[in-house]
Amino acid sequence: TYVVTDNCIKCKYMDCIEVCPVDCFYEGENMLVIHPDECIDCGVCEPECPADAIKPDTESGLDKWLQINTEYAEKWPNITAKKEPPADAKEFDGVEDKFEKFFS
Ligand code: SF4
Ligand code: F3S
Repeated sequence: TYVVTDNCIKCKYMDCIEVCPVDCFYEGENMLVIHPDECIDCGVCEPECPADAIKPDTESGLDKWLQINTEYAEKWPNITAKKEPPADAKEFDGVEDKFEKFFS
């Protein structure tokens, strides 16, 4: 599966939604997650993210993010259409430790 990671938080560009063939993105207030059981590993969303926040879970160090994607894909609503990203998305691109600071 692919997972959404830290830099999505407060950037939330949502370009990823438009390309996913199986609509497996779920929306929280500050970020999206991917449902690991629904993702077919096609990889098309990875290069679409302007914040470079989508990674294959085969990359090392992503256990925490796999857990977060799994947990919140069950709690948050499905999202299938792109909305307006936050006006200040650019200011948050690359900010460190966004999960600790802003996750909700
Ligand atoms: Fe959707 Fe493919 Fe991305 Fe999985 S890898 S979330 S199926 S676009
Ligand atoms: Fe987040 Fe990137 Fe999608 S910032 S909402 S994973 S396009």
